Amino acid sequence: MYRSHNCGELRASHTNTEVTLAGWVQGVRDKGFMIYLDLRDRYGITQLYFDEEQTSKDMMEQAQKLGREFVIQVTGKVQERASKNPNIPTGDIEILVSELTVLNEALLPPFTIEDDTDGGEELRMKYRYLDIRRNPVKDSLIFRHKVTQEVRNYLSKDGFVEVETPYLIKSTPEGARDFVVPSRMNEGQFYALPQSPQTFKQLLMVGGMDKYFQIVKCFRDEDLRADRQPEFTQIDCEMAFIEQEDILNAFEGLTRHLLKEINGVEVEKFPRMLYDEAMRLYGNDKPDIRFGMEFGELNEVAQHKDFKVFNSAELVVGIAVPGGNSYTRKEIDKLIDWVKRPQIGALGMVYCRCNEDGSFKSSVDKFYDQDDLAKWAEVTGAKAGDLICVLSGDTNKVRAQLSALRMELAERLGLRKPDEFAPLWVLDFPLLEWDEDTERYHAMHHPFTSPKPGQIELLKTDPGAVKANAYDLVLNGNEIGGGSIRIHDKATQALMFDYLGFTEEEAKAQFGFLMDAFQYGAPPHGGLAFGLDRLVAILGGQETIRDFIAFPKNNSGRDVMIDAPAPIDEEQLTELNLKLNIQS
Ligand code: AMO
Repeated sequence: MYRSHNCGELRASHTNTEVTLAGWVQGVRDKGFMIYLDLRDRYGITQLYFDEEQTSKDMMEQAQKLGREFVIQVTGKVQERASKNPNIPTGDIEILVSELTVLNEALLPPFTIEDDTDGGEELRMKYRYLDIRRNPVKDSLIFRHKVTQEVRNYLSKDGFVEVETPYLIKSTPEGARDFVVPSRMNEGQFYALPQSPQTFKQLLMVGGMDKYFQIVKCFRDEDLRADRQPEFTQIDCEMAFIEQEDILNAFEGLTRHLLKEINGVEVEKFPRMLYDEAMRLYGNDKPDIRFGMEFGELNEVAQHKDFKVFNSAELVVGIAVPGGNSYTRKEIDKLIDWVKRPQIGALGMVYCRCNEDGSFKSSVDKFYDQDDLAKWAEVTGAKAGDLICVLSGDTNKVRAQLSALRMELAERLGLRKPDEFAPLWVLDFPLLEWDEDTERYHAMHHPFTSPKPGQIELLKTDPGAVKANAYDLVLNGNEIGGGSIRIHDKATQALMFDYLGFTEEEAKAQFGFLMDAFQYGAPPHGGLAFGLDRLVAILGGQETIRDFIAFPKNNSGRDVMIDAPAPIDEEQLTELNLKLNIQS
């Protein structure tokens, strides 16, 4: 037996019990005639005690030689400490060691294994197994386990069946590039790793599974950000014989359950907002509604004066920054520089101070009088003491810019509180999205999403205006899930592929299996997938998903610990018939 107890469980009530513990040496305090050693495992830290009077000389010497992160096993008696440490649960006791075994020595770790470590991100990733010994990382992984466990229990209780679907598949379009795997046995052919199990879960509905879920890895070759990894995990769900309302209720139920069980937060029925409204009020399809600062469209009250910049703009739009009138001229100039950075791309920013006495002072006083500015304040909801920030330009661009400014200011003002939770359903997304690069429409969600009833005809005349039975679940300004009601008949699906620019042959080659299945009694169905990593991070009060993934990739998609991706040897290349292709 390696241990009778773990390092987090002994209390004063265990005094005089003989125990055996095993773990890592966190630190040694050698006072010459007595030695204190902190022993750490997953569960906590226990103080070990050696002294000249009670410990043999050999063992004193052995203890003195122990280095940080050595793996040791000790046996000894629990005794109350002379000076207690109220900061840790085991702080009342220590172990007077009678036996000491070194199970393994350790090199000096390249960074300190402390909550506040001296190791930089890249170094910690390279030695991720050491990073995992630190409480913040360990706790995040345990937190993730708790969330995953709750999800499995909740969905299983609700009649969902977890079914595994294959990883070696054919491309499924979810808007990113595929990771591909060459097939040795089928020369010149490739599998694609799933961007999601989308088509398989639909086939499970045709198969009569009715309520499916899977906690599943998905793979997408796309640019990485704090909330994106090339391999990530979805809670993927699908239901048959349902309408949109059933799906919203089912997954609102799951999310509410998680907020209650994990965070102890009770949330009322989730608010709902149409996509168009979200774009108009927040310039964003995933608005953070924990705070206001809603957009006020100012075209009517700010155009047709003499200010050319506004007159020529498609949209003039502003937000009221609470208390922003206290900003100095220098601070406002800095804000203007911030929106002009290439990442944001605004050409400039107009502002208007709302003075405490009810008067206004704007950067464009030449063109607007007090009555005009009072209207700006009315439209943006600005009060005395606020600052109105106004941007203008092409609608889509200017909305994105003002949305970025709104989020930045809210962050600076401390309005994005991590322990406050504001879920939101965003409904009726457009079916199609115009792609500037390829100059054609793409499915905004994916090509299996159904258009709103009665709108299919509109595809011919005004494709961009067609709305879909598609919805996203937003939590604190992050898209944590998305889904749709699917097309379930062959004719509509074929029509959809046609509108998306697939020839009949291409559609058949890529999705013939699905259209075939639709001819054998496909039930009406729909579903949703949560991004588990994002969900866990946000419930944990953070937005960087890397911290909640045991072995994440860095921003260039590399695993710096195992050094992947990496070249493969000649023999493997030949076997896969890739050598010639790569060299040519
Ligand atoms: P979607 O593409 O919206 O839908 O993905 C669902 C959710 O997965 C998360 N997500 C990611 N998380 C981390 N890293 C990434 N690279 C990444 N990409 C997406 C997001 C997102 O909301 N098959 C459909 C679902 C359906 O229609 O049922 C799908 O995959 O939180």
